[in-house]
Parts: sequence; structure tokens; C-alpha cells
Amino acid sequence: MESRWDVLSAVGAITCVWLLLRVAWGVARGVYVYLLPQARRGSPWLRAQGAWAVVTGATGGIGRAYAHELARRGLNVVLISRNLSKLELEAKEIERLHGRRTRVIQADFTGGLQIYGDIEAELQGLEVGVLVNNVAMTYGGNKLKRLLDCENPAKSMMDVVNCNILSMVQMTRIVLPQMVSRRRGVIVNLSSVASLRSVPLLAMYAASKAFVRSFSLAVATEYRPLGITVQAVSPCVVSTNMTSHPTPGPLIKLPEDFAREALDTLGLSSDVSGCLSHALQTLLMPVVLPEWLIHTPWGSQLLLKVTGSLMDLSE
Ligand SMILES: NC(=O)c1ccc[n+]([C@@H]2O[C@H](COP(=O)([O-])OP(=O)(O)OC[C@H]3O[C@@H](n4cnc5c(N)ncnc54)[C@H](OP(=O)(O)O)[C@@H]3O)[C@@H](O)[C@H]2O)c1
Ligand SMILES: *[C@@H]1O[C@H](CO)[C@@H](O)[C@H](O)[C@H]1NC(C)=O
Ligand SMILES: *[C@@H]1O[C@H](CO)[C@@H](O)[C@H](O)[C@H]1NC(C)=O
Ligand SMILES: *[C@@H]1O[C@H](CO)[C@@H](O)[C@H](O)[C@H]1NC(C)=O
Repeated sequence: MESRWDVLSAVGAITCVWLLLRVAWGVARGVYVYLLPQARRGSPWLRAQGAWAVVTGATGGIGRAYAHELARRGLNVVLISRNLSKLELEAKEIERLHGRRTRVIQADFTGGLQIYGDIEAELQGLEVGVLVNNVAMTYGGNKLKRLLDCENPAKSMMDVVNCNILSMVQMTRIVLPQMVSRRRGVIVNLSSVASLRSVPLLAMYAASKAFVRSFSLAVATEYRPLGITVQAVSPCVVSTNMTSHPTPGPLIKLPEDFAREALDTLGLSSDVSGCLSHALQTLLMPVVLPEWLIHTPWGSQLLLKVTGSLMDLSE
């Protein structure tokens, strides 16, 4: 009897130590990545990666904020998205505000493999130091909905896969060889907190973001010895068109603030939320909204209410 208690208390003690170590590791990592200004790599390090940055989805939201922040830190910027007049306007604004050079490439990432030949040709000869794989879309418009509750499910599914997954893989293929030959370069992939679990009513989006995160972390390990820095950024809510512009506050970030804080974490970790507020929210999420709860009928109603009150996403 007594020896059984000994075994149980040993198991208890080991579990406690393990939990404490995990918490300590999380706190130490958070302090290092978000709170120690002297740990940051700074603009000279970023600039030394190469003269140009390429940002996909660069005319709005987080991508636009990354483009401006990278130019402010001394890089020339290639902007890629669908609307040429928005691209030219944004490029002029970056040249005026930050005095860097710009190029624009008009492309629709819902198109398949055939769009990448042009992009590759346009990037020919540019020393690309930083690639931000930012472009993404939700499924069938910015609303929470079931898989078949949209006008053209077949096309919507293909669009999400092309825009959120194929774009990142192909853009990385295009710039990685020159980065490897120079033994330097940074690739940032915008994932999402939604990548950490499956999310009912956001099935395609959340699964596509899980691909981004998993792929990024694996390729990060493959290419770290070759001098390439890869980072998966998984934000919570940022006030953009995708989230129907909710009011910014302690939980919801402005894209400009988010991009600045996220760029400060580059080179410190390959897997970040991007800012301290979102790191804390991500840490608390399993407690507040555990995955098993989301998959119960009342759990998914709760999720709908919570996100609905933060953002105008419910129909
Ligand atoms: N906002 C959030 O709360 C949040 C949270 C987690 C993760 N994220 C991730 O952060 C990234 C940026 O999100 P966001 O909120 O900034 O998005 P957004 O406001 O919708 O901006 C999307 C940008 O991509 C361009 N774009 C959209 N569809 C395109 C297409 N098919 N081809 C080419 N360009 C296209 C848009 O410009 P045009 O319309 O001119 O093409 C715009 O510049 C995404 O990867 C998203 O998943 C966002
Ligand atoms: C491009 O953006 C401009 C400015 O926002 C808008 O007026 C125009 O309708 C857009 N063009 C297309 C083809 O969406
Ligand atoms: C914002 O999102 C809506 C819904 O997806 C889309 O129809 C609209 O074109 C977007 N607006 C801009 C400026 O990107
Ligand atoms: C992003 O994903 C690409 C795959 O297209 C991968 O090669 C790259 O290392 C990833 N980058 C980051 C920063 O995780």
C-alpha cells in the first residue's frame, strides 16, 4: 500500500516540476522575444539580408503595414497584390514617406501555378533579402460559415488553397535559391492563432493556416544552417478589412503597431504571435476556450458570440 503512494507522489512531483519548467520556459521566452530591446536585431541586421523586401498582399492591412515598416528600416520594397491603382498609390506613398525605391507586381494569388512565371521574371536581378508571405483570404467572404454555405464551394475551396497555401510555397521557391547562394535572407509567413486548432465555421481558413505554420517551422529547421531565417507569425485579431475593422484596444492591434512589434521579434524566434498582447492571449486560449469546448454545439455557439462581439463576422 505504502509503496503505491510513493509511486503516486513521485508521479505528482514530476508532473509539478514539468509544469513549472514549462511555465518558466514560456515566461523566459516571452521576456526574451518581446521585452528585451537589447536582444533585437535592429535595422542594420535587416538591411544586411539584402536590398529588397517582397511583400504579398501589400496594399491593405498587415501586409501594407509590413511594407511601410520594412521601408522605414531601410529596405526597398516590391509590392504584390491585385489592384494596380492601389499598388501604384501605395508605392508612391512609401517612396514619399521613407525615401526607398519600390516596384509593383499585379497578381491575383487565387490563380494557380501559371501566375508565378511572371512574378519570377519581375523579381529577376533583385537582391531579395526579406520575403513576407502575407496574402490570404477567408472562405467565401469575411463571414463565419459552414463549408457548403457559400455561392460556389468548389471555386471558394480552390481560391483559399491557391491564395493561402500555394502562394507561400511558390513565392518561397522563387526567392530561396538566391538567399541560399548569399547565405542570408529572411522569410516571414503570416499564419494565425487559428492555426493552432481546428475552428468550426472557419474550417478552410484555419486548416490553411495550420499548413503555413507547420510548413514554416519545418523549412526553418532545414535552412537555418544555410543562413536563412524563417519565422511563422500567428496573430490573434488585427484591425483590418479581413476582420471588418474592429476598434483597436488592448486585445485588438492596429496593423501598423502589429507589424512594428512583429518585425522586432525577427531573428529571435521562428514561431511567434507577433506582439506581447497576442502572445498572452494565445497562452491563455487553451484555458479560456479549450479545443474540446469549441467542438461541442454550445462551444461553437460561444465561439460565434465571442468573435461576433469582437468583429462583424457573423451573418
Ligand atoms: N487581421 C487579422 O486579425 C489576422 C489574424 C490572424 C492572421 N492574419 C493573417 O494576416 C495576413 C494579412 O491579413 P489582413 O487582415 O491584413 O488581410 P486584408 O486586410 O484582407 O488584406 C489583404 C491584402 O491582400 C491583397 N489580396 C487579397 N486577395 C488577394 C489575391 N487574391 N491576390 C493578390 N492579393 C490579394 C489585398 O489587396 P487587393 O485587394 O488590392 O488585392 C490586401 O492588400 C493574412 O495572412 C491573414 O491570414 C490576420
Ligand atoms: C482598385 O482600387 C481603387 C481604389 O481603391 C478602386 O476605385 C477600384 O475600383 C479598384 N479596381 C478594381 C479593379 O477593383
Ligand atoms: C474587404 O472584404 C470584403 C469581403 O471579403 C471584400 O468584398 C472587399 O473587396 C474588401 N475590401 C477591400 C478594400 O479590400
Ligand atoms: C514559409 O514557408 C515557406 C514555404 O513556402 C518556407 O520555405 C519558409 O521557410 C517559411 N518561412 C518562414 C519564415 O517560416
